[in-house]
Order: sequence, then structure tokens, then C-alpha cells
Amino acid sequence: MYKLGLIGHPIGHSMSPWIHEKLMEQQGIEGKYELLEIQPDEFGEKVNLLKEKGLDGFNVTVPYKEKIIPYLDGLDESARHLGAVNTVHHTDQGWIGYNTDGRGFVHSLKNRFPDIFHNNAKALLLGSGGAARGIFEALTRSNIARVDIANRTIKRAEDLIQDIPSKAYSSPLTLEQAKNTLMDYDLIVQTTTVGMNPDHDKMIVSLDHLTKGTVVSDIVYRPMKTKFLNEAEKRGARLHFGHEMLLQQAVYAFQIWTDTEPESSLLLNEFEQKLKGV
Ligand code: ATR
Repeated sequence: MYKLGLIGHPIGHSMSPWIHEKLMEQQGIEGKYELLEIQPDEFGEKVNLLKEKGLDGFNVTVPYKEKIIPYLDGLDESARHLGAVNTVHHTDQGWIGYNTDGRGFVHSLKNRFPDIFHNNAKALLLGSGGAARGIFEALTRSNIARVDIANRTIKRAEDLIQDIPSKAYSSPLTLEQAKNTLMDYDLIVQTTTVGMNPDHDKMIVSLDHLTKGTVVSDIVYRPMKTKFLNEAEKRGARLHFGHEMLLQQAVYAFQIWTDTEPESSLLLNEFEQKLKGV
């Protein structure tokens, strides 16, 4: 009987319980995945109480992905590079922190568009927050030659490139520069919350210079098809959706906790129906 959960604030609308319960069903595993909401002023006290709850593992979401680190006994390489954890596993060595966000992104992208993973591929990330860091780290470990980063505040793009060890070539850009060079990229990833409900009419940059066949990805999954993806589709782009990343990062967490190999593609259709219904 696995005891799993999610800590964060606020987490009332999280899809994680649904996903993990489906994964348990698929794998024939018994267990429970609970929402463990923690108020910011009670963080230390509640995290210490978690240790007594006998959890096998839990996910961590905003605003605690960095704050959890001092309470852990070890970190995997991604979590160490990023200074952020989204998955904790209770092992004989104590609580070990992982970050499966970037890996989830790359895996779901590779499944759909294997052709863009080659030695000359060029990617552009829009944004420099926590999500951009995870995606940058994972993308630069894969077969992508160049990963540029554009941000409203260019200094944060520069800092991201400096902070995260990578073998890819990277340049920081302003959003204005990015907008005018979209045709140079095989992959463009929108990593911010711009365009998320209720601001679904917003776009981080105009896509006038986008060319046909480019893969365009948006990590926002509410709405499922953002304005950014809609506009990209009109220009002949191939689309990758935020919910595909969301599902795959959960599958990686589940693998870490249960040592099983769940198949995310079996769940994708059902997950899409579920998201449309809420
Ligand atoms: P998190 O770590 O949770 O992702 P964050 O650190 O606040 O959150 O990062 C949010 C990202 O969205 C940043 O890249 C931010 O740009 P700035 O660094 O210039 O603030 C970007 N962002 C948020 N609102 C934006 C907007 N209206 N237009 C362009 N970029 C925006």
C-alpha cells in the first residue's frame, strides 16, 4: 500500500491525484495520493510532521520547490543543478529529491517529434523562470546543438545560461530580438504563465516570423490550446501541448517511487478528456 501525496499552496485544482491514481490502477498497485496543502507560515513545522506520516514519496509544487531542499538528505543531478525539487522519495538513505519536470518535457516532445533531436537542431526558450530552467537543463542534455533563451528581462536569461552547466551553445535575447528571428529555430518553447486562464487572450510574442513545420510548445495547459499554439497552428507549425509534459513528469515521479514502468500514452486520451471537463 503506497502512501503518496503533493505539497504546495494552493493545490486544490491539482491534476496529480487523478494522474497517480490512474497510474496505480494501470500498474495494479494499491495506494493513496493525497493533497497536503501547507500554508507558507507553517512550512517547517508541517514538513517535519510529514516525516512521521510514513509517506513513500511526494511531489512538491509552488511555492516550495526550493524551500524543501534543506529538509532533504540527498539530491539527484537535475535537482542539484536547478536548485529545485518536484519529487521526493523516501528511501533507506533518507529523503531524496529529484526534478522530473525537464525530463518530462523532453520525453513527451521526443515521443511526438523525434526528427527535431539532431546535431544541428536549434531551440528557443521564451522565459527564464523555474520552468525554463528545468527545460533548459534537460534539453541541453539531449541532442540539441543550440538552446537560446529570450526573456522580458534579459539579465535573467543571461543568469540562467551562466548558472546551469550545459554542452549546448546558448545566447540570451530580448523578446523583441526573438520575435524577429523565429524562423531560425526548429523548436520554440513558451515557458511562462502568459496566456494561462483567465488571461487566455495574451501572447508573449507575436508569431509573424514563424515558419511552417517549426515545432511550437507551450507549457500552459489551461486552456489546453493557448492563443500562442492557435496562432502557431495557423502558420503551419507542429504543436506540443503543456498537458503532455504534465503527464510525463508525473510518470517519472511514479517510476521513482514504485520502480515500475507505466505507459503514459495509454493515459493521454483520457487525460485530455478529463482536462476538457474541468
Ligand atoms: P516561476 O519561477 O514560477 O516560473 P518567475 O520566476 O516569476 O516564476 O518567472 C516567470 C517568467 O515569466 C519570467 O521569465 C518572466 O519574465 P521576467 O523575468 O522578465 O519577469 C516571465 N513573464 C511573466 N509575465 C510576463 C509578461 N507579461 N510578459 C513577458 N514575460 C513575462
